[in-house]
Amino acid sequence: MILPIYTYGQPVLRKVAQDIPLDYPDLQQLIADMYETMEKSDGVGLAAPQIGKAIRLIVITLDPLKEDNPEYADFKRAYINPHIVEYDTSETDSYEEGCLSLPGIHEPVKRPKRVRLQWVDEQLQSHDEWIEGFHARVVQHEVDHLEGKVFTDRIAPLRKQLVKGKLNALQRGRVNAHYRVKPPR
Ligand code: NI
Repeated sequence: MILPIYTYGQPVLRKVAQDIPLDYPDLQQLIADMYETMEKSDGVGLAAPQIGKAIRLIVITLDPLKEDNPEYADFKRAYINPHIVEYDTSETDSYEEGCLSLPGIHEPVKRPKRVRLQWVDEQLQSHDEWIEGFHARVVQHEVDHLEGKVFTDRIAPLRKQLVKGKLNALQRGRVNAHYRVKPPR
């Protein structure tokens, strides 16, 4: 089932999401719905607060990037209770990000290239791994959602000034997207 995406200004996007028990009701169905919602809206990642739930659950697909990165073919994963426990700040890069909750805004964001992530996968196996590259970038973007942050919180002050009008419009519920949304009211 495709779920509506909560957009900028919705209070749930500012909440710190909580870990869930692994017997969380209908968890596999929720993951399936999040995959479907992400794919139908052409996203590469989706965090549970974006569908109105303040829980630590994200889904990511890197398959759309397979032309430049063959290793990402069929890459589609769910991360239950993800936590970034270490940042390798020795190397950062800047890349233009967007977000399904902030349609119409694309801005470069500087992030570390490698992070150490702990999570539980769809088969309920625990992981503790260093991840890197585009994978690490998307994970950082999605885990930010679980901390009540959005990517425009991390852009340079001058750029933030430039997108202020767009953010205000979203906050007032003026949203233009090709997928189903749930704007603030
Ligand atoms: Ni996002």
